[in-house]
Order: sequence, then C-alpha cells, then structure tokens
Amino acid sequence: MNICVLGTGYVGLVTGAIFAELGNEVICVDKIAKKIEMLINGKMPIYEPGLEELVTRNHNEGRLEFITDLKSAIERSEIIFICVNTPSMENGETDLSYVKNAAKEIALAMNGYKIIVNKSTVPVGTGDMVRDIIMEFRPNNEKFDVVSNPEFLREGSAINDALNPDRIIIGASTKQVAFRLLELYASLEAPMLITDVYSAEVIKYASNAFLATKISFINAIANLCEKVGADVGDVAKGMGRDHRISKDFLNPGLGFGGSCFPKDVKSLVHTSSKMGYEFDLLKHVMEINEDRAQHFVNLIKSRFPDIKGKTFAVLGLSFKPNTDDMREAKSIEIINLLIKEGAILRVFDPIAMESAKKILPDVTYCSSAYEACEGAHAFILSTEWREFKQLNMERIKGTMKSPVIFDGRNIYDPDRKKRMGFEYYCMGRGKWLKPS
Ligand code: UDX
Ligand code: UDX
Repeated sequence: MNICVLGTGYVGLVTGAIFAELGNEVICVDKIAKKIEMLINGKMPIYEPGLEELVTRNHNEGRLEFITDLKSAIERSEIIFICVNTPSMENGETDLSYVKNAAKEIALAMNGYKIIVNKSTVPVGTGDMVRDIIMEFRPNNEKFDVVSNPEFLREGSAINDALNPDRIIIGASTKQVAFRLLELYASLEAPMLITDVYSAEVIKYASNAFLATKISFINAIANLCEKVGADVGDVAKGMGRDHRISKDFLNPGLGFGGSCFPKDVKSLVHTSSKMGYEFDLLKHVMEINEDRAQHFVNLIKSRFPDIKGKTFAVLGLSFKPNTDDMREAKSIEIINLLIKEGAILRVFDPIAMESAKKILPDVTYCSSAYEACEGAHAFILSTEWREFKQLNMERIKGTMKSPVIFDGRNIYDPDRKKRMGFEYYCMGRGKWLKPS
C-alpha cells in the first residue's frame, strides 16, 4: 500500500519504518528540513535502539522515502497517518494546533479518496474535528474516511513494541475502512479490535492513565512502607503474583515522566471536566507523582541537613533507560531542587547528555559514572540504565568523599551495599530507611 506518515518523531518515524519493513511504500514527511536531511543521510534525530538499522535498510531498498513536500506525499498516498506532536497546554488541555494544521494541509492536497488516520494521542472528539476541517478545505468534494489507530509503543523498546503489539485498535465509522487498515497489520498476527472512533480515542488515554495510576498506587504504598518498616519491593512482588494485578508497572521510585503519561493524564482530567465529570482519582495520581522528587530530596536532606556546598553525583538523566528523551524527566526536578539548596552537581548519562545540556546548564557533565562520583558526598541513582547495575562499586567508593547512595529506582540490593561499606538509602523500603 502507499502510505504517508506526517511527523517524524518517535511515533511517526517508528511507524513509517515498520510499515516499510512490512513491504509497503512509505513516505515520511516532516516540516523540519534538517530532520529530513539527516534521515536521508541515515542519521537518526532521536536515539532508539535498532531504529537506525531499520530505517537505513528500508530507505536503501527504496520502500522508505523522506521529504518535506506534504502535497506530493498526499497525492501519492492512499493512507495518511497523522503523527504530529500533541503537547500539553498550561491548563492540561491538549494543544491540537499541529493536528488542525495537518488536517488542513492534507485536505488542500487531496486528489482522490484517502483514509486519514489519527495516530497521535488526541482527545476524544478529535476525529470529528479532523473530519470537519477536511470537509471545509478539500478542493473537489473528494471522498475520505477518518480513522483512529492509537499507538502504544514505548520509547526504548519502540520497534519491538510496534512489531509485537498486545493489540491493534482501529476506530472507524465503517467495517469496510477498518478492514482496509487492518490489512496493513495482518502479518503481525496481533489481536485486533474494531471500535467506533470515540472508543478508540478513549482507549489510548484510558490505557496510559491506568498505567500511570498503577505507578502512583505503588508509590503511595511505598510511602506507607516507609512509615511501617515494610519493603515495597516484596509487597509489589506479592501483589504481582496475582494475575489479575500483574507484576508490570509496579516499580516504585521517582515516579513517571516522559512525553506521554504526565500529559495524557492531565489531558484526560481536562477532557472529563469539560464533559462534566471531575476525574478526581486521576488528579490524585498526578499529585502523588508530582511529590516524588521532593520526597526524595527530603530523604537526601535527612542525611545531609546542610546541603549547601555538598557535591552529589547524579547517575542517569533521561526519563527512563534506553532513550535520550529528557521530556518530564525526574532528574530535572531533583537537580533543580538540589541546586536551589546550594548543592554542587556532577552528572552522567550514557546517551542523554546532549539533550540534557539544553535543559540543565548549571551542572558539571562527566564522561562516566566513575568520573561523576569522584569527590562526591553521595551518588544519586535517578535513571536505571543497565550499566549502573554493573558498576565497580569498590572503585567508586574509593573516590567518593563519603560512601553514600540514594537509589531513586531501588535497583541495588541493600544488604550487599551495606556489606560493601556504603550507606544506602532507597524508596519504600522502610527497613533500610535508616542505615543500621
Ligand atoms: C508522539 C505523538 O504524536 C503524541 O501524540 C504522543 O502523545 C507522543 O508521541 P512524538 O512522536 O513524540 O509524539 O512527537 P515529536 O517527537 O515532537 O514529533 C512530531 C514531529 O512532527 C516533529 O518532527 C515535527 O517537526 C513534525 N511536525 C509537526 C510536522 O512535520 N508538521 C506539523 O505541522 C507539526
Ligand atoms: C508510555 C506507554 O507505556 C506507551 O504504551 C505509550 O504509547 C506511550 O507512553 P513511555 O512513556 O515510552 O510509554 O515509557 P514507559 O515505559 O511507559 O514509562 C513511563 C514512565 O513511567 C517512565 O518515567 C518510567 O520510569 C516510569 N515507570 C514505569 C515507573 O516509574 N514504574 C514502572 O513500573 C514503570
């Protein structure tokens, strides 16, 4: 099939590359000429494991094209995926200006029947909005359908997620157009669900909000564990053995960041309120999440009451491992809170340092975890990159001013760290709150 993907961010680029891999002719369009030039030259604008190889191979084999000219891409395509960004506004509402603009440009370029697919995460009712814009601007009453096909991929494992989805959701107004779209996914052999457009739009938000709720729930339990001396890790394990609960997304710690959960939860709260339902549960989910960084900094302050002039190493900056994405990263909140208290910060991240430099100018960027820890009063584990689990701790201990660890993601074994002579602090493991 001939496909156009509008927007080459995480969602668009991965979607385009996967559809090309499945044998389709794909044109990826982005308004940023520099991005398109990079992609033509085999350079990825984002870090995502496996993406460069997939993009380069499909580009070289002629199935994946990169251009800035939306008009010609629309003219040559039957199915158009809208994958532009949908950021949050101050009041939590989703900014749909890019989607609106995309719909208008698509309409103006229409030269026959098109299926227009919303893949960006958009509030319920956006399908109607896109339809109305296209009706207004199409030049010659061309026929079209608007479909919702939300994407559930995670950064860091995007290709695997897109190739092995738990489900494919198609929200369409007729079975005929839904089946046309399902043909695209047929070879993935994933469970498929056809719904109306509204339901598909809600499924995406409900899924993200539910996962965010799971994370805030376990973090609330972590707070309780700290008070009563229980271990949240064991509690999560015990809960997760119940298949109705499942062990996934029960990792406690600094809470959720990234480009999706915070903005999607806020957006769902906003949409619900607009529709006359106050989604208080989700407001609490956000409050619990927003408190995590301060809670963690309070823990640091309980050990170092006078933070001013103390040096801390921060290991991990990206919002989660295997990505260079700094959007809503918890490291930003922690670092800014510590800087406000007068701390000196030495930081390291395996991939995200270039992105971080634009956001965090007042820290020292180091070339390794070891260098960051040199002369530090403590190190802070903020993102659980795999390499931080395998550090030579004896070497680190030897260069630190005091051997203290604040583990924001509970990745280390408290017993082992204590035996090695570290003071070890973590989240929700009450027994280890005060090193004995
Ligand atoms: C995606 C989804 O689209 C969003 O709804 C979801 O919630 C998070 O993931 P993402 O892929 O991360 O967003 O967005 P981003 O990395 O910002 O990429 C969007 C791309 O679209 C950018 O490259 C931008 O230049 C491009 N764009 C945007 C256009 O080409 N034209 C436009 O009119 C607007
Ligand atoms: C999320 C959804 O998982 C995905 O389906 C959707 O398409 C986009 O949003 P992403 O934001 O890439 O994906 O990352 P995810 O792995 O879900 O993690 C989000 C945040 O939650 C990260 O900050 C992570 O550290 C945090 N998290 C995740 C926890 O704190 N605990 C957990 O148990 C799991």
